Amino acid sequence: MRDDFIATVTDGSPGTAMMAFSRRLDPAQIEAVVDFIIATFIQERRANTRYHIPENGWVDHQRYRDAYPFALGEIPLDTPDDRLTPAQRRGKALFMESCVTCHDRARVEDEGVLWEPRAVSFPRGGYSHRLRGRPDASSGATPFARHDRPPRVAGLTPLERQGEALFQNNCAFCHAADGTGRNWIGSFLEPRPRDLTAPDFIATMTRQRLARVIRDGLPGTTMPAWRQVLDAQEIDALVAYVFRVFFRQAENSEE
Ligand code: HEC
Ligand code: HEC
Repeated sequence: MRDDFIATVTDGSPGTAMMAFSRRLDPAQIEAVVDFIIATFIQERRANTRYHIPENGWVDHQRYRDAYPFALGEIPLDTPDDRLTPAQRRGKALFMESCVTCHDRARVEDEGVLWEPRAVSFPRGGYSHRLRGRPDASSGATPFARHDRPPRVAGLTPLERQGEALFQNNCAFCHAADGTGRNWIGSFLEPRPRDLTAPDFIATMTRQRLARVIRDGLPGTTMPAWRQVLDAQEIDALVAYVFRVFFRQAENSEE
């Protein structure tokens, strides 16, 4: 560690704001400052190097001591409440309220999934935008649930069926399973995802334009460009599905 520190202070760290000190300090001075840093901040962790001190605006920080073990990682944050003493439980609650913004989840036993592909703010457990007509009791009561069901259309060609799977897995998250954009996530996006079943939208759309917008996305909106994700054949399948199911359906409902 000491050698690395000396090298960094001497030569700087390219690409960062850390400059080289070799022209300003001689080697003995560089060694002295590195030894000071190691002793003060790392080995002795002297009281005046602590962060939560009155000079930094933290008067009497000790009053939060119940939360310290969670900030320091001594007690994992996901320890079940029934394994905590009352004081520890208070500390955990305090940590979640006042410390977690900076200290994050200092230590947890179960890291959980790296990327949860569901919106965390959906107002109920077990939400899936692919509920396929089986909403639970509470979700059935939301105005969003009915848009989470893909339209059932008989007699899809293999290409349209492939397009259905691609749409429900990649697009329904924003556009809703029924293409209306009236699902939970869709209602938060600005601009809102296009209602793919709206007659005035359908009137302006050709297969070529649809393929292009899927390929290139719409700059300045959350509509992504899919060209790195889907190949030309998959985009054809999506176009076939959107035309058959969303466009045709709108025609039917107008009749
Ligand atoms: C604004 C950001 C911020 C908040 C809010 C915050 N901390 Fe810290 N805390 C820090 C930083 C920065 C350090 C220094 C980290 C280091 O030295 O590695 C630190 C260090 C600590 C330490 C180590 C000892 C010390 O004083 O340096 C403890 C214990 C601690 N925090 C507890 C808490 C508790 C308990 C809360 C909530 C009541 C809290 N912190 C809220 C930023 C914060
Ligand atoms: C992250 C959210 C999101 C995803 C995922 C998404 N879209 Fe969109 N999409 C949007 C938004 C928002 C708009 C509306 C932009 C606007 O009106 O300016 C849009 C617009 C569109 C339009 C209308 C284009 C136009 O010219 O008006 C089509 C067609 C479309 N999306 C198809 C798809 C397809 C097919 C997929 C899946 C491959 C998909 N979208 C995935 C958010 C999304």
